[in-house]
Amino acid sequence: MTIQILLLLFSNILIPLVRSDYCGDHKVPFGLELHKNGKMNLLCARPNCHEKKYAECPERADSDRCLTNSSWVGGLTQNSDGRLKLQCCEYDLLPKYATVQFENLTIRPGEYFEGEENTDNDQQVTSFDLIGDIKQLQDPEGKTYYSLLIYRYHCGNIPDTPPLWYKTKQWPYFQKDV
Ligand SMILES: *[C@@H]1O[C@H](CO)[C@@H](O)[C@H](O)[C@H]1NC(C)=O
Ligand SMILES: *[C@@H]1O[C@H](CO)[C@@H](O)[C@H](O)[C@H]1NC(C)=O
Repeated sequence: MTIQILLLLFSNILIPLVRSDYCGDHKVPFGLELHKNGKMNLLCARPNCHEKKYAECPERADSDRCLTNSSWVGGLTQNSDGRLKLQCCEYDLLPKYATVQFENLTIRPGEYFEGEENTDNDQQVTSFDLIGDIKQLQDPEGKTYYSLLIYRYHCGNIPDTPPLWYKTKQWPYFQKDV
């Protein structure tokens, strides 16, 4: 009897209290699944016009919002109390390449968002969407929902080779390109 109770206690303790999901510094968050139970998954991609570019991501998801126009949601953590924390990856050139596609895209449990990816006749990606910010909100009944900021990244806006200062700054990531 005692052993059973102890085991129960232990199994409760072992349930992870924090859930995290990360795209990493070389992938972009192009979608989000919000399960009925409130758990969130980021959908990550590496579009071919962005594959050699890296964002600067902090180690952990500890921001409430990603508020600069050069950041996107590279990862997220859902705390046991239900609070959402974001990992805001900085990509200095984002404002040059991206335009705001949706400012307040609402998603509720059981829904998902998947960004559009456009390609040309050669299957080269010409534009794709990514998640810039996620705002956690509550409706009048106390149910949690989220508002997404979606950027559209226009590959054509990118110079074929990044400016020299950018290569230097991103060293050693662009070393292979030189
Ligand atoms: C992005 O933010 C910076 C700093 O706040 C500002 O100087 C710049 O004009 C903004 N760019 C765009 C395209 O909104
Ligand atoms: C965002 O959308 C939701 C649902 O459509 C709406 O209730 C809310 O007022 C909107 N917020 C802003 C800032 O537009």
